Amino acid sequence: MKKIDFEALKEESLKEINKADHPEKLDDIFRKYLGKKGKITQILSFLKELPKAKRAAIGREANLLKKLIESQIKKKKEIIRKRIEKELSSKDFIDITLPAKKPEVGHLHPLTLVRRKVERIFESMGFCVVQGPHIETEWYNFDALNIPKDHPARDLWDTFWLKERKNKERLLLRTHTSPVQVRYMRKHNPPFKIIVPGRVFRHEASDSSHDIQFYQVEGLMIDTDISVANFKGIIQEFLEKFFNRRIKTRLRPGYFPFVEPGFEIDIQCFICQGKGCSTCGHTGWVELCPGGMVHPNVLKAGGLNPKNWQGFAFGMGLDRLAMMTYKINDIRLLYSSDLRFLKQF
Ligand code: FA5
Repeated sequence: MKKIDFEALKEESLKEINKADHPEKLDDIFRKYLGKKGKITQILSFLKELPKAKRAAIGREANLLKKLIESQIKKKKEIIRKRIEKELSSKDFIDITLPAKKPEVGHLHPLTLVRRKVERIFESMGFCVVQGPHIETEWYNFDALNIPKDHPARDLWDTFWLKERKNKERLLLRTHTSPVQVRYMRKHNPPFKIIVPGRVFRHEASDSSHDIQFYQVEGLMIDTDISVANFKGIIQEFLEKFFNRRIKTRLRPGYFPFVEPGFEIDIQCFICQGKGCSTCGHTGWVELCPGGMVHPNVLKAGGLNPKNWQGFAFGMGLDRLAMMTYKINDIRLLYSSDLRFLKQF
């Protein structure tokens, strides 16, 4: 029998025990050295075949190593057990003295806040809030609004057209809320007063005051005896309630094929009180929105007789109103979903 290197066996076994990180691994090591066919067990079973002189010394060494491996495995098992116990208990641990985590509560988007405020004010003046479809027919978006085919006025709006359907009317993403005027007239009997808040789409370059989608609020009032004075009165009342201050307005002539006469409504600049500053381009006035008296052809498209009914309509940019309210200098922030921006409202 060749010489047994107990030192090498010791080093090898202790190294393995040290490296083991799971009780099952330690069981494998036990089997490798001390199991039925383990290395130490085999040495011990061959002892009786050795000459007497060698038997005692080798037996002592083998038994010492056996005891060492046993005790080291036991120790390591205890270390691993404690580690696992600690890991489990730290996972389950609940410190009931810690303050509870509050769920983050969201809030309304600035455009929603402004839309709701506009709706409340018009409702207080007897207007109904009405909706219309985002996908619109060419007829409602243009023809019914007195914008003939191939007329250059159609170019006022850059349009997102939808894929053409065989023998079907062309569809588009509505470029303004004005089509709802005719939709409503065709289904309801006047007199009526409505506002139509909603999203509109334009295929145009975006900048700090223009986006490809934005919100408008259409206004429409139809009755038997409506004049520009009613229009000015309603707009004035709305603005003073909205901005909660006295507001000076003026009407300038403006062109839209679906109103006659048509106006641009300006409000006196809040910043300089009309004296002229950089905000109002030194004019003393800030453009608010277009509007005018509903064109007889639009009333006809809506099934109303222009001899019996008149009215006014306007189309306000809700985003611009939000920007004025909260002093937002770039419309694109409203659609960026940037929480750093949105959390300010
Ligand atoms: C119209 O869309 C007309 N339908 C308004 C109207 C209604 C006139 C009824 C007469 C009678 P205009 O294209 O000017 O008009 O748009 C109305 C408002 O929408 C503008 O004053 C502006 O506040 C806002 N707006 C227009 N284009 C953009 C844009 N790209 N981004 C953000 N807001 C816009």
